[in-house]
Amino acid sequence: MAVLIDGKALAKKIREQLKEECNELKTNKIIPKLAVIMVGDNSASKVYVRNKSRACEEIGIEYEEYLLDENIKQEELIKLIQKLNEDKSVNGILLQSPIPGHLNINQAFKAITYRKDVDGFTPSSVGKLSIGEDTFISCTPYGVIKMFEEYDIDLTGKDVVIVGRSNIVGKPLIQCCLNKNATVTVCHSKTKNLTEHTKRADVLIAAIGKPKFITQDMVKKGAIVIDVGINRTEEGKLVGDVDFENVEKIASYITPVPGGVGPMTVAMLMNNVIKATKEQYNINTKF
Ligand code: GUN
Repeated sequence: MAVLIDGKALAKKIREQLKEECNELKTNKIIPKLAVIMVGDNSASKVYVRNKSRACEEIGIEYEEYLLDENIKQEELIKLIQKLNEDKSVNGILLQSPIPGHLNINQAFKAITYRKDVDGFTPSSVGKLSIGEDTFISCTPYGVIKMFEEYDIDLTGKDVVIVGRSNIVGKPLIQCCLNKNATVTVCHSKTKNLTEHTKRADVLIAAIGKPKFITQDMVKKGAIVIDVGINRTEEGKLVGDVDFENVEKIASYITPVPGGVGPMTVAMLMNNVIKATKEQYNINTKF
């Protein structure tokens, strides 16, 4: 049976550290603030955003939400982002994706000043990550890396296979794992003979968005399995991209869903808001 990587417990520990840092800032009369923009009415986004606002409240970060009409024009969205860029009381800006199809999300991300880019999605942050400079790292990949560190999992020389190539998770994970000296393969929906790739992974990261897609026969015995998926079954149960019950029998480490990567994403967002605030006030950051 695999060792469970407890993202819930690690996220709690990180949030407690951040609460202390936030209290320190408050003694200097600095109150970090996160502004979240949501466009339209996406039920999954609403749940994610609620989790983010709760975490802010727990840590002592001010939280401001902008709910925009689904028919909003691109220029209006950009105007709001520019206003938040200028607003000195706002330290972090997050545009919740997805946004309606008539809007250009890359252009909107590009409009966020990199100093407040707590999601790590702007071209500046992505570019800096790829050349190994200190920057904001996309929260889910960053959370995965923190899990490896907590469990003393050294990626040096390991074959890491990532399934999924999204801009939010798969692509930044390539850089994060490369920076930890792994040999990285990225697979996607057009990959031929997927199992041949997954089966030789020392570390398999599933970020596909399909319930229980990774089955036991696709996993090498003793592999470390990270499940980034959050899917809801017809019965309303949360399941990951990995067939947990069967894969955990042969893996050496595995993340559960829920309680694995999900809480880490929110914790690392909080980390990035504190980092952004400190950098805006020229205070050294710990992470
Ligand atoms: N949609 C799904 N995950 C994320 C995330 O981490 N950040 C943002 N902004 N949108 C998302």
